[in-house]
Amino acid sequence: MNAHANTNTDANPDLPGAQVLARDSFIEMNARERARSLLDAEGQRELLGPFDALYSPWLPRQGIVAQADDGVIVLRGQLDGREAVVLAVEGRFQGGSIGEVCGAKIAGSLELALLDCEAGRPVLPVLLLETGGVRLQEANLGLAAIAEIQSAVVALRRHVPVVAVVAGMVGCFGGMSLVAGLCSHIVLTRQARLGMNGPEVIEQEAGLEELDAGDRRLVWGLIGGEQRVACGLADVLVEDDAAQVRARVLDCTRAPPAAARSSQVQLWRARIEAAAADAVLDARALRGLWNGNAGQPAGDGR
Ligand code: COA
Repeated sequence: MNAHANTNTDANPDLPGAQVLARDSFIEMNARERARSLLDAEGQRELLGPFDALYSPWLPRQGIVAQADDGVIVLRGQLDGREAVVLAVEGRFQGGSIGEVCGAKIAGSLELALLDCEAGRPVLPVLLLETGGVRLQEANLGLAAIAEIQSAVVALRRHVPVVAVVAGMVGCFGGMSLVAGLCSHIVLTRQARLGMNGPEVIEQEAGLEELDAGDRRLVWGLIGGEQRVACGLADVLVEDDAAQVRARVLDCTRAPPAAARSSQVQLWRARIEAAAADAVLDARALRGLWNGNAGQPAGDGR
């Protein structure tokens, strides 16, 4: 149990809300705490950590204070006794954006895991994504890193399940939402959001009539965790609790291999075409359309 847990053992478990208070909030943890909570306690080691001082060379040039881990934690260890690597993006640093250094940390770690897998030593990769996508100040370098991450994920998932978890309020957007989409399994909390463009970006670019980014019910109804799982665009809905997140991730690593979403182009194209034909879509309408009129039930389209 970490510092975020409610340690009041006198709490009456029958009281309303007691279960909520007893949870060890995963969302409130920073990226390092999240990674640590996921792996077995014994034998964890952080690679390219703050003492390696891998700063972004680009941020200071634009007046931004760089961070010694560049916002990504690489933690090697074991997941229920099996070799694993967790890549955790820190959403509180520059919106979890992916630049040259932190992108290379993720891509390089996945490529090393791939080498191990190819040599018959499976390493389970878990990505904890809390990110607005490419770091705008590092533009093309961030884009290139994300392309490397994507090809590493595609190569790795032939050997081991690649699991993505999106937990917190930052969500997962841009190129990193495509990374999530390429993973074998996506685990979301209700609080998470997953989509190509963030609501503020859509409102800014397409106008209020397209999307009111301040309408939280609408936003979460379209791209929130519950809706994404109900529509089959993510696999597992989990409570905001570290033990439950770990349990669901373990389930995913043991699940039989499913057909990758990115190999089911026809299925998704048919659903998008059906959705595009409908003029006004709210959360319920989208779920009905996606699951009913356009073919198969939710959750089948991995
Ligand atoms: N590159 C560089 N900096 C970024 C960034 C990015 N991609 N995303 C966020 N940041 C910075 C912000 O400028 C802000 O910096 P500041 O504290 O110096 O002002 C900080 O990170 C926090 O961002 P903010 O937007 O205030 O945080 P938030 O928690 O309200 O929202 C996001 C986080 C990711 C939801 C929001 O930034 C967003 O919607 N981003 C765009 C996502 C998107 O559409 N990506 C795809 C583009 S194709």
